[in-house]
Amino acid sequence: MIVSPEVPLHRLVLSLSDALDMVHPKIVDHQLRVAYITTRIARAMGYQGEELWDVFQAAALHDIGLIGIENRLRALHHGQLEKVSWHPRVGYELLRDNPLFRRAGDILRHHHVAWAGGKGDENEGQRVPMASHILVLADALERGIDRRLPIVEQSDFILSQATLGAGKRFHPQCVDALRSVARTEAFWLDLDSKHLYGVLLREVTWPTLTLDQGALGPVAEIFARVVDSASRWTAVHAAGVAATSVALASRLHFAPRGLRAMRAAAYFHDLGKLTVPSAILDKPGKLNREEFSIIRGHTYHTFRLLETIGGLEEINEWAAFHHERLDGTGYPFHHGGEQLTLGSRIMGVADTFTAVTEDRPYRKGMERGQCMGVIEKMSAEGALDGDVVSVLKRDYEEIDAIRCAEQQAYAEKQQRLAWFMFPPKRKRLGRLQRSD
Ligand SMILES: [Fe+2]
Ligand SMILES: [Fe+2]
Ligand SMILES: [Fe+2]
Repeated sequence: MIVSPEVPLHRLVLSLSDALDMVHPKIVDHQLRVAYITTRIARAMGYQGEELWDVFQAAALHDIGLIGIENRLRALHHGQLEKVSWHPRVGYELLRDNPLFRRAGDILRHHHVAWAGGKGDENEGQRVPMASHILVLADALERGIDRRLPIVEQSDFILSQATLGAGKRFHPQCVDALRSVARTEAFWLDLDSKHLYGVLLREVTWPTLTLDQGALGPVAEIFARVVDSASRWTAVHAAGVAATSVALASRLHFAPRGLRAMRAAAYFHDLGKLTVPSAILDKPGKLNREEFSIIRGHTYHTFRLLETIGGLEEINEWAAFHHERLDGTGYPFHHGGEQLTLGSRIMGVADTFTAVTEDRPYRKGMERGQCMGVIEKMSAEGALDGDVVSVLKRDYEEIDAIRCAEQQAYAEKQQRLAWFMFPPKRKRLGRLQRSD
């Protein structure tokens, strides 16, 4: 078994930032563009090394708390931004427990706080870092660009708006720094470039921080929480797949390194659902043809997104092939038999098991007999791997208990997000039950 090599953290951040914005043509590259503006301003203000890296990370992920395509679109429009005023806090909640992103979380928590003549020095009882004020300006600037018009022609107007806002919405020092870096056409052309991802790769001297499989799992979990929160039916889905796939893999003699990779793959497996609107994920009735094909596209997007990071080839196969079937009847690549490695086969069983035991808008979660009936039938028809299925059948009680425990811990974290997303109703996300 080849378990992929270490992954450079900056590529992971750039690709996941890109993934969050791929959801709609109106938003494409929003965070990458904000990261570019922020990084240029921060450098002009003397930021370097780790500090610059933190500001960049915060900017590249600043809207991570905007759960669901519908909410991401709302944030683009002034009048609608109030409806999603919770998103900087949700973003902070997502990042705060991960040591790699904690400082970025502290910055993005305040990315909609106006300077207001100095009042914006404090927010929610915290001192607002200067980096947050840079982000406020960069975000407003990016949202002010009319993407239908040539960018260089808008530059004077946009800069005059920023100058008007100095001391009010924006920190005056940030506006001064912006004016110094935005003098050239190249600044604006970079911003609008199709090659912005590559420009950003060259813009900063990146820390040589690489993630091994152990550190990758918690990062993947952050993104799984964004995906899962978009629908109340899947609020704890990824945790179930992670627990089940690792439990199956350990019984099939995967080494510790392979188990860590399996956990990361499981938390990444539905990443491509970022491209599916919540209205489809949550639809109570039957999906029509178009909606169904949008849903089916999610694993294609998982595959292409993870591919851009590089170094994750094996994890990507395990993650993105969970709807492929041994007899070639799956999707989207229609891989069969020998193209599906043991890791991908395990993920296929873990995902099916977790999905059938969860409630769905159109049916209740299945108990043991019915669940194993479905899975054994799929194995008999040649869709799922018989050896993997027989391990699940043999150790069902134990594996099911492991699944429930991991979903319970994850549900508590998800509940915290819901607390901020739905004030004051404070809805519960998802429902948890044992399948027996
Ligand atoms: Fe925002
Ligand atoms: Fe934004
Ligand atoms: Fe899936």
